[in-house]
Amino acid sequence: MMKLIDSGVEGLNIMIGGGIPEGSSVLVLGSYGAGKTTLGINFSYIGAVRGENVIYLTLEERKESIISASREFHKDFTPFLGKNLTILNPGVLEFVEMLKSEENFKNSLAPLNPQRIVIDSISLILMAAETDPVRRNIIINLSNVLKDTGVTSLLLAEATVSSPYSSREGLAEFVSDGVISLQNRYDDLLGSTTNIIRVLKMRMMNHDRRARPYRIGPDGMEVMARSEIFQ
Ligand SMILES: Nc1ncnc2c1ncn2[C@@H]1O[C@H](COP(=O)(O)OP(=O)(O)OP(=O)(O)O)[C@@H](O)[C@H]1O
Ligand SMILES: [Mg+2]
Repeated sequence: MMKLIDSGVEGLNIMIGGGIPEGSSVLVLGSYGAGKTTLGINFSYIGAVRGENVIYLTLEERKESIISASREFHKDFTPFLGKNLTILNPGVLEFVEMLKSEENFKNSLAPLNPQRIVIDSISLILMAAETDPVRRNIIINLSNVLKDTGVTSLLLAEATVSSPYSSREGLAEFVSDGVISLQNRYDDLLGSTTNIIRVLKMRMMNHDRRARPYRIGPDGMEVMARSEIFQ
């Protein structure tokens, strides 16, 4: 029986069909402010609470900013730091160099023996890579190491302006086991925003194919798995 991993967001678990299949890498696509980091915090926190080894690798924000966001959402990382939750904040160029070799990346993860990892974000890594072949190589190395390690991962990525369903580089969709899209839809007339989540792909799961509303609230991300989107 396949083990399903709690995403840290109850409504998202329902949409997926119970949880994320253990060992999957899931791409989370969204534009700025859509809630990618917040989902990463929910996912990391629930793992930490359950005693799993968790890595939050942040390339965009500083460690302190992730910690204060975790506190804001009542998902305080502090009690787990130095224990089973590690926040890594490598330089982007340094991390790109490391990803050019599967061995280097694998060896750097090994001592932490992670069961969950969040990479926030892969867009910055891919932007920093010099050429398309390097980008492809990096994404394949990343995916191979995550598979070999058996870790369940969230890869956060900036969506393109033209489509909320593709990453800017259009690469990671194909190597990921799952793809989740987060979208802020603005209504100019009403001046309101609707947040929409879709599970575009989740290998091995008969997932919900509909768009559902979500919000960023006092406890982080909250998905209304039974609600319809009204246009
Ligand atoms: N305490 C809070 N209560 C409600 N909403 C909040 C709270 N804190 C942040 N938000 C909302 O969450 C958004 C930020 O979400 P988050 O940082 O997870 O997005 P992101 O997709 O990671 O963005 P980026 O691409 O800029 O990293 C803010 O723009 C704000 O709308
Ligand atoms: Mg973010």
